[in-house]
Amino acid sequence: MGQLDGRTYLVVGGSSGIGLELVRRLRGNGADVLVWSRTAPDELSELGVAHTVVDTTKSLEEQGISAPQRLDGLAYCPGSINLRPFSRLTDEDFLAEYELNVLGAVRTLRLCLPALTHGDGASVVMFSTVAAQVGMGFHASIGSAKGAVEGLGRSLAAEFAPKLVRVNMVAPSATDTPLAERILGNEKKREASAERHPLKRVGEPADMAAAAQYLLSPDSGWMTGQVLRVDGGMSSLRV
Ligand SMILES: NC(=O)c1ccc[n+]([C@@H]2O[C@H](COP(=O)([O-])OP(=O)(O)OC[C@H]3O[C@@H](n4cnc5c(N)ncnc54)[C@H](OP(=O)(O)O)[C@@H]3O)[C@@H](O)[C@H]2O)c1
Repeated sequence: MGQLDGRTYLVVGGSSGIGLELVRRLRGNGADVLVWSRTAPDELSELGVAHTVVDTTKSLEEQGISAPQRLDGLAYCPGSINLRPFSRLTDEDFLAEYELNVLGAVRTLRLCLPALTHGDGASVVMFSTVAAQVGMGFHASIGSAKGAVEGLGRSLAAEFAPKLVRVNMVAPSATDTPLAERILGNEKKREASAERHPLKRVGEPADMAAAAQYLLSPDSGWMTGQVLRVDGGMSSLRV
């Protein structure tokens, strides 16, 4: 028997990194899990997870995607790390970050809201970044898109509260996933990043997945509109 027996979760972006680790944890706790992403590793079928090919930067209706019937929770994990000096960022760069991080979540939630609105309580988790809270050079496009994710999440938390649908966010700092390859891709970069964090290491997918699972589970049943800053102390400490 798991804590999440009988519950069903959709993990968008559950094929890699933090999302995949979240899928492992939800399955390990007895939940049924559906994954939407563009590709599917073999591990998903080994975990007994149903996968649907979805690109959230495009119309879901035009891809023939239909919502699950009933969901206890949904995590929207797709995101980007596009670090460049402001002078080298084009309008298209800003729009691409917004499309994937914000509109992708909007499209997913628009389609899935009826499945979450059953009156028994449901939970949505989205991913921000430490760079939405702390100003960091070269983060203008991702910082602005993730700032929008946090604004979206708080607005929806208010709007959905009467429906008993909670909305919270996890804001990671540098976490060792395929997405972070360019910033953590070798030992020197990992050590330099670890040194910048008060807790002197980089994040692991398990750190973020544990926070996301907590927010999806009934354990966090009285939390909504919050951002969990899982960042080794980066956003709030000077050590
Ligand atoms: N890793 C970090 O250092 C870090 C730091 C701050 C914030 N974050 C945030 O944490 C979240 C998870 O990041 P991660 O590091 O786990 O990234 P990741 O390893 O790249 O995983 C991203 C997931 O999203 C899916 N995805 C990407 N584009 C998609 C699209 N257009 N349509 C559908 N699915 C798509 C990917 O699957 P497919 O490729 O198969 O589609 C994959 O499953 C992101 O929102 C990221 O911005 C991460």
